[in-house]
Amino acid sequence: MLELRHLSKQWDHRPLLSDVNLRIDAGETVALLGASGSGKSTLLKMVAGLEMPESGSVWFDGKDITALPPEQRGFALMFQDFALFPHLDVLHNVAFGLVEQGMRKPVARAQALEMLERFGLGGHAKARVWTLSGGEQQRVALARALITQPRALLLDEPFSALDAQLREQLRVEFCDRIREAGMTAILVTHDETEARAMAQRAWALEAGQLKQLW
Ligand SMILES: Nc1ncnc2c1ncn2[C@@H]1O[C@H](COP(=O)(O)OP(=O)(O)OP(=O)(O)O)[C@@H](O)[C@H]1O
Ligand SMILES: [Mg+2]
Repeated sequence: MLELRHLSKQWDHRPLLSDVNLRIDAGETVALLGASGSGKSTLLKMVAGLEMPESGSVWFDGKDITALPPEQRGFALMFQDFALFPHLDVLHNVAFGLVEQGMRKPVARAQALEMLERFGLGGHAKARVWTLSGGEQQRVALARALITQPRALLLDEPFSALDAQLREQLRVEFCDRIREAGMTAILVTHDETEARAMAQRAWALEAGQLKQLW
């Protein structure tokens, strides 16, 4: 279980988050909505360990992880601007996290290829990532995030750079994959329809507070 306890943070003398509390069960996908600038990305970065709260704590499975650096949290992050490595081909992008975890390269590549095939991207394994379409790049990014079997998946507007039709298609696909992996996920989005399609529960961030929508 992922838990946020009394998180607070100011920015520019303005309370960005004030006493935010949230509990997310294992295997659950929740959505975080809210206007631009309301602090959604900041909240996600606190969960990831990229931003520190001024007060409050982040807990995972009964442990206080507030002071734990991002790489020790075992969470995977995915942003709208893909953030794949442009100098690597698709296969090496997906294998990267496994090699970082100490897996031997040939084993990591074999697993990455298997994952790409499952995602319908096997034919693109040797392609440079910048030759892929936006939707394909997001699929590669998800494959790369899931292959390391993270403890939670943090998605910050993962589809906002894509057109409406592709967004809808990827929404369904991502949902299936996240469910398949039994993953705990937080989806930050502007789009309530997207949130309804993907998340069991949702909150809006307004004036530094979370209001439950469903
Ligand atoms: N390092 C920082 N830490 C905290 N807040 C910051 C930082 N840098 C900028 N801010 C400000 O905090 C506010 C919230 O930013 P944040 O990116 O969390 O909003 P958001 O809800 O994700 O918005 P969007 O929907 O546009 O992505 C903004 O006004 C932003 O300018
Ligand atoms: Mg944001």
